[in-house]
Amino acid sequence: MLKHEKNGLFISIEGPDGAGKTTQARLLKTRLENLGVEVFLTREPGGTPVGEEIRKLLLNPEYSEMTVACEVLLYSAARAQLVRQLINPSLKKGRVVISDRYLDSNIVYQGFGGGESPEIIEKINLWAAGGLMPEITFLLDLDAQTGLKRLQEGDKSGKWQGDRVEQKGLDYHCRVRQGYLELAGRSSGRIVIIEAGGNSDAVHEKIWQLTEPLLRKKNLL
Ligand code: TYD
Repeated sequence: MLKHEKNGLFISIEGPDGAGKTTQARLLKTRLENLGVEVFLTREPGGTPVGEEIRKLLLNPEYSEMTVACEVLLYSAARAQLVRQLINPSLKKGRVVISDRYLDSNIVYQGFGGGESPEIIEKINLWAAGGLMPEITFLLDLDAQTGLKRLQEGDKSGKWQGDRVEQKGLDYHCRVRQGYLELAGRSSGRIVIIEAGGNSDAVHEKIWQLTEPLLRKKNLL
């Protein structure tokens, strides 16, 4: 089993579709780099050549027949590759790793959303990730309706269809949001809920206020 690499700092950003994770991950990366901190930013599913191939399979709207169990294993397969190929080596070099989604997404989307056992998904993922957990997870919380509306409005073509996950109904996305809140209640030492309805600069400031002390504690800043 891989051990948690203590040298760097591992941060994940989670939240329902449309909550603005990708924007926040980029803002945090830029702020850190401006302060001279080395950062490795990655996204899930994907991040490695193998993982990006798995991502194409997972998000392809043609595969509507894909079972939730199959999704669990594909997402965790991509994660297993990402942890070993890129995240652990970056942490060993003392970098800050920011992951745009990590294993909580699997527990919440396939478990709470898709109806497979969250406990079993957690076990599979812990094995796949070699036990590596983020030191802090920012959960960008937004109601499902607003999240989906943001995605539709952000689409320039005016013919928004969404990927395979985004196409699932509002009910599914409401379960995802509830799942995240439940998980945060259980992992309150690691998962911090950030209200994501406001503007992105305000959300970034909240994230920064919690990140900075962690960096100082680890002598990364
Ligand atoms: P992406 O286009 O990256 O969306 P986002 O910007 O919201 O992260 O697609 C990722 C989708 O995959 C997203 O809808 C959530 C879903 N997902 C899962 O269902 N399970 C998982 O384990 C992960 C990592 C993502």
